[in-house]
Amino acid sequence: MKNLLSITDFSVAEIDELLEVASDISVNGEKYAEKCKNKILATLFFEPSTRTRLSFESAMLSLGGKTLGFSDANSSSSSKGESVSDTIRVVSCYSDIIAMRHPKEGAPLVASMSSTVPIINAGDGGHNHPTQTLTDLLTIKTEKGKLDDFVIGFCGDLKFGRTVHSLIDALAMRKGIKVVLISPEELKVPDYVKTDVMDKHGMEYEETTDLEKALPKLDVLYMTRVQQERFFSEDEYLRLRDSYILTLDKLQNAKKDMSILHPLPRVNEISVDVDKDPRACYFKQVQNGKYVRMALIMKLLGVK
Ligand code: CP
Repeated sequence: MKNLLSITDFSVAEIDELLEVASDISVNGEKYAEKCKNKILATLFFEPSTRTRLSFESAMLSLGGKTLGFSDANSSSSSKGESVSDTIRVVSCYSDIIAMRHPKEGAPLVASMSSTVPIINAGDGGHNHPTQTLTDLLTIKTEKGKLDDFVIGFCGDLKFGRTVHSLIDALAMRKGIKVVLISPEELKVPDYVKTDVMDKHGMEYEETTDLEKALPKLDVLYMTRVQQERFFSEDEYLRLRDSYILTLDKLQNAKKDMSILHPLPRVNEISVDVDKDPRACYFKQVQNGKYVRMALIMKLLGVK
């Protein structure tokens, strides 16, 4: 039984195959309408979500399956003190596959140890978010026509931004990708991402605090929100939240074909004026999220 806890649970070949299926779904959705008939997906969200939970549910419904779950830990028995292990052991009796989000890093790994059905990590604290990575990869592949040989800038909260950590994991498996890490000193990417991922794979990277200086060299810009919910100090969050705001004015110095990605939700780090710029891809990312999750559910359930 295969789980998806980290994007590194899949090889490059497996990821490419998933992206192929997701691309086919995007144009031939009707072919897949009954692929998961009589299958049940449980979505257990101990943390808030709009895109991830609803795209998982939409994905399963579009495959002909059914869904159940909760979107608020307070409406589950975890509020009475039930452990993640026990919750998963119970929900395994009611479903064929589980997508879970949890504020604690490693909770999906703990879940996988007591589950009798595949577990999908839909975001664990400031650690990983592998299904967002599949979404990001499909968007980059669609926009650039390749997943090798480009320069990507990650901008914003690189410390707590789990989507950044997972996407770097995935890009480190590819060839010729250069990373520009743009953040305030306080929100730099964790050391383990540098040593255990980028250094280990010989990935070229640089760190800067200056978005405007970095912009002209980027093929892809991955903006992120400052993750308020992970801060211990409200004052520190307020001091850092407006560190970077992307505007049409700043984009004048960027490449004409640079792709702008953002996992969303956005607060104010991308001005709404940028939405109409042809380089803005973040709402296309949202759509791709459903296709990759349909492909993933089929793969983990062993559906051809
Ligand atoms: N990108 C993302 O994870 O969005 P949600 O928090 O709305 O699921």
